[in-house]
Amino acid sequence: GLGGRVSRRSLITGAFAALGAATVPASAAGAGQGILRPRGTVLRAAPATVSLGRRTVRTWAYNGLLPGPLIEATAGGTVRARLVNALPAATTVHWHGIRLALPMDGAPGYSQQPTRRGEHFDYVFTVPDAGTYFYHSHVGTQSDRGLYGPLIVHDPREPLGYDAEHTVVLDDWLDGLGGTPDDALRRLNSSAEHDDTLRSPLLGGVTAEMHHPYYLVNGRAADAPTTFSGRPGQRVRLRLINAAADTAFRVALGGHRLTVTHTDGFPVAPVTVDTILIGMGERYDVVVTLGSGAFPLVALAEGKGGRAQAVVRTSGAALPPPSDAEVPELNRRLLKYQDLYARRSDHLPRPSRTVTVTLGMSDSGNEWTLNGKLSSDPMRVRVERGETIRVIMDNTSPMWHPMHLHGHTFQLRVADRGGPRKDTVNIKPRERLSVDVLADNPGEWMFHCHNLYHQEQGMMGTLGYG
Ligand code: C2O
Ligand code: CU
Repeated sequence: GLGGRVSRRSLITGAFAALGAATVPASAAGAGQGILRPRGTVLRAAPATVSLGRRTVRTWAYNGLLPGPLIEATAGGTVRARLVNALPAATTVHWHGIRLALPMDGAPGYSQQPTRRGEHFDYVFTVPDAGTYFYHSHVGTQSDRGLYGPLIVHDPREPLGYDAEHTVVLDDWLDGLGGTPDDALRRLNSSAEHDDTLRSPLLGGVTAEMHHPYYLVNGRAADAPTTFSGRPGQRVRLRLINAAADTAFRVALGGHRLTVTHTDGFPVAPVTVDTILIGMGERYDVVVTLGSGAFPLVALAEGKGGRAQAVVRTSGAALPPPSDAEVPELNRRLLKYQDLYARRSDHLPRPSRTVTVTLGMSDSGNEWTLNGKLSSDPMRVRVERGETIRVIMDNTSPMWHPMHLHGHTFQLRVADRGGPRKDTVNIKPRERLSVDVLADNPGEWMFHCHNLYHQEQGMMGTLGYG
């Protein structure tokens, strides 16, 4: 799988190994392993046994891999992927952050009916924007079982300001060694009213008392970490993806500063910081210049105490850092949204009107609402095709909510100016954030909290236009 040296090449090779068992069209099998051109990738969703390092777990995965195979494309090009459903349940694939045509969005009940056991679904779509994305099941809590993987869209015109790149996928493994994400949701629903310990202080989901979660980088726990290899002085691009269901991570690389170049796929004016807080569904690309030695790449589980860890190691380095190594960078300069500036060409037109969406919590504390509504009777924001609207998200609840809009990238407002283009934005307790959305991709699009448990407990609405 993804252990060992996770360069782009080894990701692909790892994907190939497991794809051998999957249904791969013979003519495509030799065309590029995980990236099966021209006929596309096969994503076979099935029960699988995967190694998290020292532990082996039984779960659901794409092609037996955790994360699923890396899919790569070129901006303006086409992604073709066949979902083959060998799960005991219906499923879909959502292409998180991609501005694609609605029928390919993988949104159950909105863009398609879920693909049933034994059936398949062909996803074919154009990828307009280069950047770091990911894909995941959009049915229930399935992505928390391991049904997710990276999707990288390359820009052939991008000046290569780096020598190598690595994809870094963060995850929380909430089902521990016993239960499943479905059990977690059931228990959360049945006991939230009675047991405060079930709620993490910041995110309000499932916590250690419940399931002994541990934290993964590219499918590996800190006790058997993924190792990224390089040379001293090399400029390396790290593509950070938070695929966790319930955990925001504070990411730092021991002994290094991070130059942030992109968020959610879109470029920003480069800014150098020490640590980045990355919410569920968010992505950041950073460039680092490697020192000499072995360094911990740490992702602290915000408000929870655990950590994911990988190792960045340059030639000649001796032992890897211990899995509890001190990383002072975690307490130094933290990236803020206010630090991020979009390219001029990525600014959206001035909005013609404003809509407020209130992020709320039910009195019982186990349902999450948008404008007081649950996903069973969802908030539906109506807009006119072609208009730009400003959406004010007003978080009246005591938890964080990483809000994600399908089919668009909005422009975040920061300090009364247009900030970065994004598709997912973390909103802190009692905080308000505004985003501008250009309605240029007709459909009824999901708009929801990317805390999977909040989503499943009601926090999903839509934004729609014809
Ligand atoms: Cu990655 Cu609707 O989500
Ligand atoms: Cu939420």
